[in-house]
Amino acid sequence: MASTTHAYQIADLFAERARKLAPPTYGTELSKILSVSFTYGLADPILFPHADLAAASAAILFEEAPIGLNYGPPSDQLYEQIILRLQAQGIPADRDRVVIGYGSSQILSLLPDVFIEPGDVVIVEGPTFLGVVARFVHSGARLITIPVDELGMDVDALEETLSDLKKKGIRPRFIYTIPTFHNPTGTTMPLFRRKKLVALAAEYGVVVVEDDAYGDLRFQGETVPSLASLDREGWVLYVSTFSKIIAPSVRLGWACGHQAIIKRLAMFKSEEPVRPFISYVLGRYCATGKLAHHIQELIACYNHKCNLLLEAIAQEFPSDVVALRPDGGFFVWCKLPPDISAKALLTASAEHGVTFLPGTGCYGNGQGDDAIRLAFSFQPTQKIVEGIATLGEVLRQWE
Ligand SMILES: Cc1ncc(COP(=O)(O)O)c(C=O)c1O
Repeated sequence: MASTTHAYQIADLFAERARKLAPPTYGTELSKILSVSFTYGLADPILFPHADLAAASAAILFEEAPIGLNYGPPSDQLYEQIILRLQAQGIPADRDRVVIGYGSSQILSLLPDVFIEPGDVVIVEGPTFLGVVARFVHSGARLITIPVDELGMDVDALEETLSDLKKKGIRPRFIYTIPTFHNPTGTTMPLFRRKKLVALAAEYGVVVVEDDAYGDLRFQGETVPSLASLDREGWVLYVSTFSKIIAPSVRLGWACGHQAIIKRLAMFKSEEPVRPFISYVLGRYCATGKLAHHIQELIACYNHKCNLLLEAIAQEFPSDVVALRPDGGFFVWCKLPPDISAKALLTASAEHGVTFLPGTGCYGNGQGDDAIRLAFSFQPTQKIVEGIATLGEVLRQWE
């Protein structure tokens, strides 16, 4: 290519949101030779239902290839199966209230298109799942963070915030929450808080985005109704995914909520539609009725891994590290003693081949250096025990 003398740089053309993007770290760690990674919320690949997915794929290829391999919308059968799952949870679902997306990430990433002008207020939890919240920030949202305690989002603090904002004439666009088996704390919001949250949404006219990525994976305690099932006025947008209960690479998630929101999400989504083939395969697979049994197998496995992790923590960590026991999901959140920085701990433990997510990766504002998230879902059981023993050794060196 001919050389040029001018000093133009391509990077100068990038929008600020593109300039600020950090290179993806996801996946790079998987390819390194690490002893143990507690970093990512990944499903256990041993449990992927590959044989049943192979059977469903073969059925589509042999029986429905002309439509299953063509351009087109997601399969009707998949819509039906998702609607049945939602209705079984008490969520008023029908075809006009459901949209299927390329993973729940796609649907959550479209929220800014529907709701946010630069400077608009969005309420999030602290800590939270930054993977999605970063998208809100890129679109110019002004985040207000409500703390999460052992019972999920502090709804009294939320009420104060909503009231203060109202006095200033500010109506937040939406509240993003993960009320069940929260990422990263593993906590579950009890019914009394859920009722209050839904009532506040109606009182202040704010949409609540309920991210229920882990809701099927309860291994102890009573089921708590979803926010969407408590909502009578259409303020809750429910979002979930097959990534944790089937496999992430199927990239299929869904949202259910007010028709007006669903319609707009579908319009923005139309440029990147779901791959029809995989939607046909999942529709078939779900219709066999095998998913319910598969979920029970996942629950037994994750329950076992979670118990193993907690037992290892009790044995290996200094007693002033406080681990929260989740009722389900993928994560254990540990509060560190005041003199230990999560980031410094990660640097030290990575040298011994063990990684995790420092709490700072769960706040947009630098908070969180006092806690770590341990994902127990992905690692084989022996690695969990080894990894916690190593981390315990590193922690004890601080004492
Ligand atoms: C809380 C939460 N929401 C959404 C997602 C994204 O799920 P999907 O694979 O459907 O995009 C994740 C994935 O880790 C998650 O933890």
